[in-house]
Amino acid sequence: MTAILKTRDVHLSYAKQEALHGVNLDFDDHSITALIGPSGCGKSTFLRCLNRMNDLIPKTTVTGSFQFHGKDIYAPTTNLVELRKQIGMVFQQPNPFPFSVYENVTYGLKLAGHTNRHYLDEQVERSLKQAAVWDETKDALNKNAMSFSGGQQQRICIARLLAVQPDIILLDEPTSALDPISSAQIETTLLALKKTYCIIIVTHNLQQASRIADRTAFMLNGNLIEDDLTSKMFTKPANQATSDYLNGKFG
Ligand SMILES: Nc1ncnc2c1ncn2[C@@H]1O[C@H](COP(=O)(O)OP(=O)(O)O)[C@@H](O)[C@H]1O
Ligand SMILES: [Mg+2]
Repeated sequence: MTAILKTRDVHLSYAKQEALHGVNLDFDDHSITALIGPSGCGKSTFLRCLNRMNDLIPKTTVTGSFQFHGKDIYAPTTNLVELRKQIGMVFQQPNPFPFSVYENVTYGLKLAGHTNRHYLDEQVERSLKQAAVWDETKDALNKNAMSFSGGQQQRICIARLLAVQPDIILLDEPTSALDPISSAQIETTLLALKKTYCIIIVTHNLQQASRIADRTAFMLNGNLIEDDLTSKMFTKPANQATSDYLNGKFG
């Protein structure tokens, strides 16, 4: 396994309040890493550091190193639009644009200057297929994306992100607003996508982490407590706090 992204000594403060206290975590390509831990422990905060979404929150300070393809994500020369294409994010609430499926999926490509209809058609088909929502949308590409079910919308959002060929996909509790069947479809989709991408998912669903993640990282109060192969962490956690959390002693 090769680490595609390496973070070292990550500290983040919102105004004067420090929310991450020195996190070190590596992410392998072609694998799924789950970030788990109780509400407020810093999972979303850490995830947002990885494509600099926290830059959008005023008075936020980030220090540490984030090596991606041998470059620091926080270098002053980083092009944020390019970075967020390479490291795309999916949120808890599906957020398709209020346009057609086709317009959603081609949005990033058009921004990048692509106008060739044949090319766009191909990319729409590839992306919707990769996101496992092609069968449900292929005859409705001109239909408003918001008119689909929550689970379909979430897969359309994944397709929108895949259209621009990212390296890493960040997902922040992508199934917590969905019913069990839609959640299971997203999980199946992610398992197929990991063959091509590095996937990092925040989840507070421990069963979900154990079902899909190759590695799991447990966070508590802004610290990374441990990270390991999921199979190892769920059977023989190294740390008592991890064991207590996995056993439901606190949540
Ligand atoms: N935009 C923000 N401004 C100030 N504090 C924040 C902001 N977002 C999160 N926090 C705080 O940072 C800590 C970590 O939150 P968060 O990363 O959302 O945790 P999690 O995703 O694990 O539930 C919490 O104490 C939370 O209140
Ligand atoms: Mg969160």
